[in-house]
Parts: sequence; structure tokens; C-alpha cells
Amino acid sequence: MNQLFARKSVADFEADVATHGGLKRTLGKWHLTALGVGATIGAGIFATTGTAIVGDAARPGAGPAIIFSFILTAVACGFAALCYAEFAAMVPISGSAYTYAYASIGEFVAWIIGWDLIIEYAVGNIGVAIGWAGYFRELINHFGWDLPPWLATDYRSAHDAFIAVGTAAGGTIDATTKYLAAAWTTAPHLGGFPIIINLPAVAVVALITVILVIGIRESADTNNAMVLLKVGIILFFIAIGIFLIRPHNWTNPATGGFSPNGAAGISAAAAIIFFSYIGFDAVSTAAEETKNPPKDMPFGIIMSLLITTVLYIAISIVMTGMAPWKQLGTAEPMITALQFASGPPALLNASRFIIALGAVVAMGSVLLVFQLGQPRIFFSMARDGLLPPVLAKVHPKYKTPYVGTILTGVFVAAFAAFANIAEVVDLTNIGTLFAFVLVSAGVIFLRRIDPERPRPFRVPWVPLTPLISIVACIYLMIQLPGVTWIRFAIWLVVGLIIYFTYGYTHSTLRRRTADGGRTR
Ligand code: ALA
Repeated sequence: MNQLFARKSVADFEADVATHGGLKRTLGKWHLTALGVGATIGAGIFATTGTAIVGDAARPGAGPAIIFSFILTAVACGFAALCYAEFAAMVPISGSAYTYAYASIGEFVAWIIGWDLIIEYAVGNIGVAIGWAGYFRELINHFGWDLPPWLATDYRSAHDAFIAVGTAAGGTIDATTKYLAAAWTTAPHLGGFPIIINLPAVAVVALITVILVIGIRESADTNNAMVLLKVGIILFFIAIGIFLIRPHNWTNPATGGFSPNGAAGISAAAAIIFFSYIGFDAVSTAAEETKNPPKDMPFGIIMSLLITTVLYIAISIVMTGMAPWKQLGTAEPMITALQFASGPPALLNASRFIIALGAVVAMGSVLLVFQLGQPRIFFSMARDGLLPPVLAKVHPKYKTPYVGTILTGVFVAAFAAFANIAEVVDLTNIGTLFAFVLVSAGVIFLRRIDPERPRPFRVPWVPLTPLISIVACIYLMIQLPGVTWIRFAIWLVVGLIIYFTYGYTHSTLRRRTADGGRTR
């Protein structure tokens, strides 16, 4: 029992870093901000916003009131970001929320968070890779190229489209649905089962894995360039879109006015577009590669959240003003908004190409940051003995945690080949919201049990601020479908089994305690 609540001191963390040879400290505060923005603007805004606006079989959409969903989620994330910032400045060790929990609440909760973060990072990236693949296809279409449908989607999307085409008999079917349905009818079969694989999603994950094994310095530079490009393209969308706004699209009584489904629609949408905010917290995984963590970490976390919030609110105002909201329920809502906007056709067409390019770059940089973050969490957990030591191996030449990087690449690519984006996004959201809850609770807890610990950054009004964060995150979790809760529960149970059969006995903290060594 004692071990479950054993805490690892920051001095112990630092000693471990010294023993294992740390990672290179190369990142400054704007690098970190770029890392945060790079992790944040991606599949959420480019792909999932459509479902959030229009809704799906399981939930109502927000309509133009999606703007309020973005504000609501930003507020929830803002409170959580302050909590992350306090920890990241205080425990500047690789591993993010996992490390914070180990230093504050104890090993068992740390394990749960570490295991949970796999959902945020690796499972989240499965969703991003799938979103990336959709826009990649859109982009190559502009050059007159295409992929065979069975190599560009997942089993469920193909099946749903096939059914949609069948039931529409005689009605109008859009080109994307026809293409997806063709995956079902043209796929080769193996043992009577259609083979449907999302090849671009697999390929992009493989490419990024190679970049990351070679090294973070190169990766940070690549990331900076991608972030500048994607912010530029989003500003372009906003600049063009402002002139295409027709206020009637917000107020049209025929489509339910500004907020067709009221608070229920706004809340359900907020829980979906939460995905678009995930990422500012990933800044904290680079703590060990940061030059001056106490100052740079809070800056990077809060600044990246601020930048993305402003951009998202502007995008949602423009997008819902450009086209009737009911048309926006696609996997490429910004492209669709341009399709339905009234303006010069040549400009709209060129803009669609530019946005498709921007989305491919944007999601590429999200993939990069999360593929970078996940191995660093594995690295920390392996260093603590909770996962096999091979995951803490640093490459002799490139100084990167290469085993974890490759393992993450294989896991993400394998699932991206077959998974459905909506299901992956819901699971990622519930897992990440849970991590936010635990981190916020950790701030309150550690202030109580260790008030004297130096805190270079302090969350204001504790416990009120972390409590608001906890309530807001739980509220968003409740909006997610029941099946997502079941999947999340299964994931946690598997984690518990692994902890009690491996981590509990291999924990280095346990061995230290047994030796009478350092523990506090
Ligand atoms: N926030 C990230 C994205 O939207 C996960 O792609």
C-alpha cells in the first residue's frame, strides 16, 4: 500500500537524469511556443469541426454557435493550462503529467496518468494521421491524381458510405461518399473479407518516425517552419473569409438561427472540438530539453493556448459566416465553406488549394510533436522501472529515445491503417480530459502536503482555479458517448493489469525504498 502512494522526489528525478545521461537542452521559450502551436492546430480544427457544427447520430450540433463551444473549451483548457504551468516549472523533467503525479500524488496515480497519456499522444495521433490522409487526398486531387479508394480510407467509413449510397437510391450523393463507397465495392478480398487500408496515414507516420529518430534539434527546426506556414495559411483563410461573410448565415430562421440546438448543441460540440485544443500541454514533455524551464515552460504553455484560441474563434466566426451551417458537416469543413461561399470562383478555387496544403502541413506538425512526446513519456516511465528499460535507451549517436520512438511509430501506423477518426477522437478526448483532471487535482494536493516547495510559477486562487478546471473537464467528459466511456474503462483496466504484473515489482523507487536509499 505504501508503495502505491510513494512519491519520487525532484532530487531523485534529477539524479536519474544525471545517471542515464539526459537529453540535449536546446529549446528556448519561442521554440516551446512553436512546439505547443505545432501540437495544437491540426485535425481538430481542420477535420472535426464539421461534425461539431452539424452533429451526428449520437449528438446534436452547435450550428453557428460553435463559436461559443470554442470559447467554452478554451476557458476549460485555460484553467488546466495554469495547472500544467505550475507543475512544468516546478518539476522540469521529461514526462509531463506522469512525472508531476509521481512527484506529488504517488506511483500508482503516476502510472495511471502515464498509461492514460498514451491515449492522448499515441491514440490522438492515430486520429491526426487519418485526418492528414483525407486532406492529402484532397491535395493530390488538385493535380489530377487519386488513390484507389480501398487504399485511402477505413473499413467503417467505407461500409457507412456504401450503406448511404444504397439507401439514397435516386437521391443526390456527394463525390466523397461515392468514393468511399467504392472502397467497399472495389476492395480486394482475403478469405472473404475486404481489404481496406489507409495507406497515406501509414506512410506519413513512418516518415515522421524516421525524422524523430535522427534528432530533436532538426525536428524543432522543421517544426518551426511548419508552424509559421500553418499560422500563415490560417490567417489567409480568415483574411479571405472576412469578405465572404453573409450575416444571414448566422441568423437564418429557416435553419434554426444562430444556436439551433441551444446549450445541448454547444456543449456536445465543445466536447468534440476539445480535440483541437489538445497540444499546449505537450510542451511540458520537452522540459528536459529546455534551456530555462522555470521561465520558458509556463510561457510556452500559456502562449500557445492563447494563440490557438484567438485563431480558432476567428476561424469559426468566418467559417459559419461564409456558408449555411448545415452544409459544413464534412471532414473538410473549411474547404466546404469555400465551396459554398459566394465570391469570385477563381479566388475560391485557389483558396481551397491553399487551405488543403495548409491542412496537410498543419497536421504534419501535430504528428511530429506527439510522435516526439510519446517516446519521452515512455522514456520517463522506463527510467522509473515501470516499463521495460529498453524504452529508456538513448541512441549513442543521435541522443534520442529511439526504441520508444520506433515503437510509437509502429503502434500509431498500425492503427491508423484501419481505425475510424470519429471514434479515435472521442477516445482521445476522454483520456486527455481525465489527465487534465488529475493534474489539476495534483496542484491542490501538492500545495497542501508540500507548501514550502519552490514554485517558480504559481496558479492564482488555489484551490478555486484547479477546481474550476476539474469541473469543466468532467463536464466535457460527460458529453462524450457511452461507448467511449466503456473503451476508456477497458484501457484503464489493461493498464492496471500491466502495473500490478510488471511496474509494481520493477519500480526503481521500490528498490530504493528496500535499500533504504533516497525516496523523498
Ligand atoms: N489538437 C491536435 C489536433 O487538432 C491534436 O490535431
